[in-house]
Amino acid sequence: MSTNYNDLKTKIIDLKDRCLADIQSAVSLESLEEIRVLYLGRKGKIADFMTLLKDLSLEEKRVMGPLLNDLKVTIETFFFEHKHHLEAETFKQKEACYQDFDVTAYTPGLLKGSLHPLTLATEEIQNIFRSMGYKVATGPEVETDFFNFEALNIPKNHPARDMQDTFWTSIPDTVLRTHTSPVQIREMRKGKLPLALIVPGRVYRQEATDASHDYMFHQVEGLYINKKTSMAELIGTVKNFLKAFFKQEDLQVRLRPSYFPFVEPGIEIDMSCPFCKTGCSTCKQSTWIEIMGAGLVHPNVLRHGNIDPEIYSGFAFGFGLTRLVLLKYKIPDIRLIHGNHKEFLKQF
Ligand code: FA5
Repeated sequence: MSTNYNDLKTKIIDLKDRCLADIQSAVSLESLEEIRVLYLGRKGKIADFMTLLKDLSLEEKRVMGPLLNDLKVTIETFFFEHKHHLEAETFKQKEACYQDFDVTAYTPGLLKGSLHPLTLATEEIQNIFRSMGYKVATGPEVETDFFNFEALNIPKNHPARDMQDTFWTSIPDTVLRTHTSPVQIREMRKGKLPLALIVPGRVYRQEATDASHDYMFHQVEGLYINKKTSMAELIGTVKNFLKAFFKQEDLQVRLRPSYFPFVEPGIEIDMSCPFCKTGCSTCKQSTWIEIMGAGLVHPNVLRHGNIDPEIYSGFAFGFGLTRLVLLKYKIPDIRLIHGNHKEFLKQF
């Protein structure tokens, strides 16, 4: 064997140790790639050794060839193991960055959500009535003719049916409720007395729309039933509510006779304009604003609710919640309420 051969063998072992140490010390995929090119590349250190093989004897080549191949396989195996390790580490680091990303973080220019004025007003009204001992009830928006009309003392062919233009459905005797009053009967029939409740909810009327009329709007019904009730209690309740809602201690109400088949006597309640003392555009220069229908519950209605009118009496009132929202927030057109315009909604 030539000295050249022994020398080569020592160099191969040296190279192997150095290369494995270099791979082990690589901390990034970029530096590992540089090490691969240095040792395993086409012009790398192992390729240099391969060219030296041609100067060896056949016998030396038989020993040295497998030695060099073994060196190459060992280095390649170690290289790929370390590469997988570095790739897994890189992935973990990226994942940790994503976890730290806060989707709720403030982004300049993003619109902040807010409650719709109808929701704000509904919550405020519920709170005021709850403080007076009232509970909040709900009822179906698709209602039967019986609850929407008959039980409220509006029999078939009664002219009062024309007061509320009705959306009839394709199901016989079924309507989209024209007011929240049918919930009065549903609650009376539950049989728990005395009753003190309000019913906020959507109602529907087949009407042409304009700045103060919509075909779908919200009402709030009020119902109080006890052994002894009076018109004075009705007026006191409504006045207290309006004072709290418009935050005006000296707010006044006045009554006008009116007609609703389900109350007797029936009245309209007006309130003093909360925005002026001498007349403005909101009150059409009159200093008064029409606010709701009301009255003492008709004995026929109590009977439909399975309540004996000889023992119990009650009062009821109903107002347009949507119109109250227009007033409170000085909104000029009812159609803005369901228009979903961003510029309108972001004011609240
Ligand atoms: C009623 O609906 C009665 N159920 C109220 C009532 C209850 C009276 C209990 C007595 C006792 P009226 O049809 O007037 O009454 O409607 C009540 C309110 O709904 C009106 O004062 C008005 O503010 C509102 N309103 C009526 N039609 C529309 C409409 N098309 N768009 C918006 N609001 C309306």
